[in-house]
Amino acid sequence: MLRGGVPVFVDIRADTLNIDERLIEAAITSRTKAIVPVHYAGVACEMDAIMEIARRRGLKVVEDAAQGIMSRYKGRMLGGIGDFAAFSFHETKNIISGEGGALMVNDPGFVERAEIIREKGTDRQRFFRGEIDKYTWQDVGSSFLPGELISAFLAAQIGKSEEIIGRRLEIWHRYHEGLAGLEQSGGIRRPIVPEGCQHNGHLYYVLLPPSSDRASILAGLKHRGVGAVFHYVPLHSSPAGRRFGRVHGALTTTERVSEQLIRLPLWKDMTDPQVDHVVAILGEVIASAS
Ligand SMILES: Cc1ncc(COP(=O)(O)O)c(C=O)c1O
Repeated sequence: MLRGGVPVFVDIRADTLNIDERLIEAAITSRTKAIVPVHYAGVACEMDAIMEIARRRGLKVVEDAAQGIMSRYKGRMLGGIGDFAAFSFHETKNIISGEGGALMVNDPGFVERAEIIREKGTDRQRFFRGEIDKYTWQDVGSSFLPGELISAFLAAQIGKSEEIIGRRLEIWHRYHEGLAGLEQSGGIRRPIVPEGCQHNGHLYYVLLPPSSDRASILAGLKHRGVGAVFHYVPLHSSPAGRRFGRVHGALTTTERVSEQLIRLPLWKDMTDPQVDHVVAILGEVIASAS
């Protein structure tokens, strides 16, 4: 949440690893301006509850849909629910332009200012539309527009988005089925996707049991030729998070999960035998570590 420019972190849900919507209200103060839900792994946050709190308390909602392109929440596209949303087209995402992203402005009242900020603080967009006879500097801004080469690359990616996301989902489901046995035997916990959340196969992670030694499991995977990684250091405990942010309540689940999570390799051209290979190696490495 943004409280007078200071981000305030609350804990996550243990199932989706998204913001725990039940903790938001108690963290709101008179300085709070916006709620910023992050749709982790392309799985939606509980947007009905979040939008209801925001409307009742007069706050904006800014969706971090960096990982959530073409995912849905109860049929609605992520990025189209809050007042604003951001997509990322960074090379690690589903749809890419190398570096890049998009700001969705769902509240029409903010469109004109967004256009000005994006165009170096000028009203050039209005000039291009023929609404004014010359353009000039109106506000703060920078050069946020993508160039033509990047736009062309991105247009081709968007044209192939159903194919790309379709294959990613096949790989995701192959992991999910392949790892059911390892979950049953207590070796891992698989991702949980609530009913009503249609995700985009952005990433496949597993949670190791609390007692396990993640570093040695990652080293074991690497030794067997599988490049798995853990994920973010929780922002509230990062140097910048500690300097600029605050926490509300204990972030117990965030801290626990950040030490248990492993991301498995997943890219569009990954083959079924490669997925099966990773599943087999993960099972062997976990068995030999316990
Ligand atoms: C949840 C989330 N938010 C924001 C970002 C930042 O995206 P970008 O690198 O395009 O600025 C990322 C990228 O890793 C992300 O995963």
